[in-house]
Amino acid sequence: MTDRNMIVLHQGRCRAHPQSPGKRQKQVCLASRRRCCGLAVCFGLLCLLLVISNIVLCLYYINLKMEKDVQCQLRNQTVIAKKYGSSYYYILEWAKTWSKAREDCREKGGDLLIINSKEEQEFINKQGINTWIGLTDAEKEGEWKWVDGSALTTGYWMSGEPNNAGPGEHCAVFLVSPPALNSWNDMNCMKPSDCICESTKPPLN
Ligand code: BGC
Ligand code: CA
Repeated sequence: MTDRNMIVLHQGRCRAHPQSPGKRQKQVCLASRRRCCGLAVCFGLLCLLLVISNIVLCLYYINLKMEKDVQCQLRNQTVIAKKYGSSYYYILEWAKTWSKAREDCREKGGDLLIINSKEEQEFINKQGINTWIGLTDAEKEGEWKWVDGSALTTGYWMSGEPNNAGPGEHCAVFLVSPPALNSWNDMNCMKPSDCICESTKPPLN
């Protein structure tokens, strides 16, 4: 007769088989209880392991999804690329600081917009987007320079601008306006704005 044959489980408790001798019954029952406890602990540990692995997998998935979303948004941020004269213009539609806007334009092979003529000024105004332009007096207050290092000759400032009114007003922003020829303001470079980039070749992806 095997050990198992001598055990009866009655309402979850270990009972001796009616035909088993007394002492031997007790030993077998004890051994069986231990085995039951061992199995229960193993089962518990297995469940815990499953729960932990599920949590880890969920976190991994959430993380993957977030990265993917960011990549998609980055890819979609170039909204248009228009050819005008010898330049391509493309809009990065995420509000960003002047420096970040410049960095993003350069990453796509261009730079922040430089306005060299009345026609170009009017063309930009028609795009209907407020944008940083590649003009700054960060090096020396009042000495406005384009991002290619050239000095500003003709400016299309709004009335009363540039006024260096607040802290850090060292970057020029183009604000779409009805009098197309008066639309620039000097603004704090750290404030966010969309931006139009300019390049001689189509923007890189
Ligand atoms: C002023 C601008 C200034 C801006 C700052 C406006 O009210 O006219 O000169 O740059 O405020 O946000
Ligand atoms: Ca100003």
